[in-house]
Amino acid sequence: MGGNLLYENNSYLPPRHGKDVARVRSQQEYEELYNFALADNDTFWERRARSLLHWSRPWEKVNNSDFSVPRVEWFRGARLNAAYNCVDRHIITDHRNKAALIWQGEREMEVRAYTYQMLYNDVCRVAAALDGLGIRKGDRVALYLPMIPELVIAMLACARLGAVHTNIFTGYAEGGVKNRINDSGARIVITADVVMRGGKPKPLKANLDRILGQCPSVQKVIVVNRSDDSVQMMRGRDVWWQDFLEDFTLDADFPCVPMDANDPLFLLHTSGSTGRPTGVLHSTGGYLTYAAHTTQWVFDLKDSDVYWCTADCGWITGHTYLVYGPLALGATTIMFEGTPTWPRPDRYWRIVEKFRVNILYTAPTVVRGMMRDGEEWTRRYDLSSLRILGSVGEPMNPEAWVWYHTHIGKGELPIVDTWWQTETGGVMISPLPYATSLRPGSVTRPLPGIDADIVDRNGQPKPVNEGGNLVVRNSWPGQFIGVFQNEEKFKSYFDRFPGMYFSGDGARRDEDGNYWILGRMDDNINVSGHRLSTSEIESVLAAHPAVAEPAVVPVPHELKGEAIYVFVALKNGIDWTEALRSELRDFVRKNIGALASPEVIQFVDDLPKTLSGKTVRRILRKIAAGDDLESLGDTTTLARPEILGEIYLARNRLALGQPEKQAD
Ligand code: PRX
Repeated sequence: MGGNLLYENNSYLPPRHGKDVARVRSQQEYEELYNFALADNDTFWERRARSLLHWSRPWEKVNNSDFSVPRVEWFRGARLNAAYNCVDRHIITDHRNKAALIWQGEREMEVRAYTYQMLYNDVCRVAAALDGLGIRKGDRVALYLPMIPELVIAMLACARLGAVHTNIFTGYAEGGVKNRINDSGARIVITADVVMRGGKPKPLKANLDRILGQCPSVQKVIVVNRSDDSVQMMRGRDVWWQDFLEDFTLDADFPCVPMDANDPLFLLHTSGSTGRPTGVLHSTGGYLTYAAHTTQWVFDLKDSDVYWCTADCGWITGHTYLVYGPLALGATTIMFEGTPTWPRPDRYWRIVEKFRVNILYTAPTVVRGMMRDGEEWTRRYDLSSLRILGSVGEPMNPEAWVWYHTHIGKGELPIVDTWWQTETGGVMISPLPYATSLRPGSVTRPLPGIDADIVDRNGQPKPVNEGGNLVVRNSWPGQFIGVFQNEEKFKSYFDRFPGMYFSGDGARRDEDGNYWILGRMDDNINVSGHRLSTSEIESVLAAHPAVAEPAVVPVPHELKGEAIYVFVALKNGIDWTEALRSELRDFVRKNIGALASPEVIQFVDDLPKTLSGKTVRRILRKIAAGDDLESLGDTTTLARPEILGEIYLARNRLALGQPEKQAD
């Protein structure tokens, strides 16, 4: 390899080895591309779209977006099919027998590999079977599935038919699943008997059984048998995946439905700034162009690479960088069912060595967990196949960055810390591995074609090194095209700063133009890279009969980045008991999912409010974080500032494992 990265001016320089054959070879080339994309945006994207994808009809207009409407529309008039681009076109080349998908199950010996031909066969079969159930273009299909190949196959089968898949992360439980299914109006749900977690099966189908009575749109449930777990099957509604596909009359070559570039490819819910999840809609043409484009440039993906994105397909990262980006490029993508630490904290390194992984894309929370477990786990394996490391989902603290670079990258590998969102479809601000000088903790520069900026509350650009609102001034092909059945919500992204897309994040830019993400400016909270809405958690808690009023705030957490801290005022006459504390925690887990489980629940007599009755979360955040009473800032606007002292002391008692109130 090329030796340690040179360190100059607080930056790691890009590796020299591999530069000559890189997609983008130098800082100068990046600048040229950036300037070209700024000056002639349409030509830039038109060239990328044409070279990356197969279109069955060309576009009339490249970019027809207008943030003042708002309207996001790319490649108007063009036609394509995402499954054709991700599967069919590769089987008429010498990629036919290349591994498209390598699946590593939770157990070491459970491995399944699909060549492009095999993927094609299964995708056609599932598409034909869904068609047989009457699924047509535009229909929604919910996928509540573990990380197993059937999930990827089902996504591509939907894409083949033009059906809109809506994936629901298996960490969501009844309430979270119900809201998402009902918002999407899905006619079919595909699920599994169980999801494997740490060697044990956790029910999935049973979660659905408890809520389907309240999901009127669902007509059929298809169940993949993951673990021979006994499940109840409702006659007429539920069918096993194997039986569903067994029909010998199903077409072996089910044709792709031609889609307009702006027909939705999928719907994916994320946390909005109200209790209701936001159904982010992505287009077929723009999204797929952007997925392929960013996968190729940000990861410098080559045909011979083995590429592994560790994200779950329940999140946008799994959509773009496990499925659509790599498969559109005809790459080999790895899918892992398990977690980094089961049965031992060496699992990722075992997989890297086993499949000779070249590119690894994971999350800061994973890296922090590995730091905690110690680098000895990494030393037992040969990691020399790795060429590029990536990170996504939350800010990567410099300490974790350096650990990742030193112990996984052996001092030689660039780390691409990629900033983006469900709404952006793909990476927006990130290093290019052979072009960008790296600063640990910074996501560096916007990609070519991305006109990002940092503005003050009036939309004016912020000076160097001052924090402000992270916005984008121009559309890009991966931008979401709407919020499902919620025009108002879509508008809200463009209302705050006219003519700009507001990300909801805060950021600053240093003197060299590097971006540093400061975190969310809205009520979203980022737990282990999972975006949750504090108001969604509050509205669940408020529905519990013992709760008078809840307030949910983020609190810094060593491993998770942020954790959920809940203050609850109970109804009159209800005692503060440990039993109630665990009941409330279970209530959140049941109504949203384990991923929203509160770290701490603190009972309070009253929440701090302004004279007009608004809960002051700013102060609660500081108290939860253990800041000094003196540092709480202006408390003169509070109706009852005197309650803060007691809340503060109670917080400290809880942190020491004692109850909030001292025994008399
Ligand atoms: O706050 C930013 C944070 O995650 C948010 C987007 O969450 P989600 O839509 O779930 O998508 C996650 C995967 C793309 C952003 O608004 N975020 C994402 N990547 C980074 C980040 N914060 C800091 N650094 C990152 N690299």
